[in-house]
Amino acid sequence: MDIKGRSVVVGVCGGIAAYKVVEVVSRLKKMGAEVDVIMTANAQKFVAPLTFRSLSHRPVVTDMFSDPEYWDIKHVSLAQKADLFIVAPATANIIGKLAAGIADDMLSTTLVATKAPVLIVPAMNHDMYSNAVVQRNIETLKELGYIFMEPDTGRMAEGSSGKGRLPEPSAIVEKAVSILKPARDLEGIRMIVTAGPTRENIDPVRYISNYSSGKMGYAVAQAAHERGADVLLISGPVELEGPDGVRLIRTSTAEEMEEAVLGNFENCDMVIMAAAVADYRPAEVSGTKIKKNDDEMVLRLRKNPDILKKLGTIKGNRTLVGFSAETDNLAENAAKKLESKNLDMIVANDVTMEGAGFGTDTNIVRMIKRDGTVVVLPLMSKLSVAHRILDEVRGMAAGSGQGSGNGQ
Ligand code: C5P
Repeated sequence: MDIKGRSVVVGVCGGIAAYKVVEVVSRLKKMGAEVDVIMTANAQKFVAPLTFRSLSHRPVVTDMFSDPEYWDIKHVSLAQKADLFIVAPATANIIGKLAAGIADDMLSTTLVATKAPVLIVPAMNHDMYSNAVVQRNIETLKELGYIFMEPDTGRMAEGSSGKGRLPEPSAIVEKAVSILKPARDLEGIRMIVTAGPTRENIDPVRYISNYSSGKMGYAVAQAAHERGADVLLISGPVELEGPDGVRLIRTSTAEEMEEAVLGNFENCDMVIMAAAVADYRPAEVSGTKIKKNDDEMVLRLRKNPDILKKLGTIKGNRTLVGFSAETDNLAENAAKKLESKNLDMIVANDVTMEGAGFGTDTNIVRMIKRDGTVVVLPLMSKLSVAHRILDEVRGMAAGSGQGSGNGQ
């Protein structure tokens, strides 16, 4: 299973087994996951934050924040970006706090704020583990949808033997991968995804285009295929290879893209238009290379068809999702487009923000739904953003089930 680009947040607590979690982080990172580590104050007495930082290549979040504003932003953004949260070693303390809803440090606060699946890997002295209160807390959390791994039995750090050892790092990683495996919650959905720019010819050697790389749309197509959808990707000219298992139609101009989309629209349940379609094309395309005679030249442009707007007028019970790349008045402009194009959801991004928009592997988006609900996401990989978009639309498609949540 490919976990490349998926976001895993690892919460490390103060137990001797913290050193084994170094291996867990290292393995996840080698598999291509984006790993953020949060350490409790006690965890830092067992392993230095620098160890995790060196392996995850990201700053390690500790509790030592002097700036409460930063603290607040950080715990919310990590909670939101996680595709999976792992707590290892999970002490009796963090299990107790979580079961009681206590949020008094960075790790517990982030855990309370996350909607991601949480994998808890307890490791503690076997007398502590078998304590009735600890066991009751574990049962409470299991009932709420938290996922637990059983500790191993064997020799403990203090010399005695019993159940309470942290499972092997390979077993923890295997479990993590199985949780990250996308649910097949889009099975039976026929989906068109558009991606990339369009290219509007001026003459045989020149064209007008934009900086769209196609990465966002290709990520949506890949994620939807992984989740069982029957995906047709209609792409403008990009450098990317089509995701495995996805049918691909390559187009160049907006008019070609329109033809491909309309030709396949009847037999689809959902369209996600991530393509950056050029709004205008040269009014005349010269058959021969235009010569540079004058100091100035005027290029007359004609409006391209607005593909999505057209789909909005003939959508029936299909689900339509648009993208809105903005440089100003993001929310306002996006909401207007949702309305004018008759969409079910619009994914808006401010392309001027670092890490967002064209060309990057990451994006920062907000999703605005027809009912006015707004979901704001932090900086995330485009694949993770793609999964979040699909999480929002999975219940909308005609003929789909309502999709299952994480239980949390
Ligand atoms: O109006 P604006 O171009 O910002 O709208 C963006 C959304 O509309 C995107 O989903 C884009 O794919 C779609 N679009 C389209 N045809 C156009 C222009 C944009 O389908 N000519």
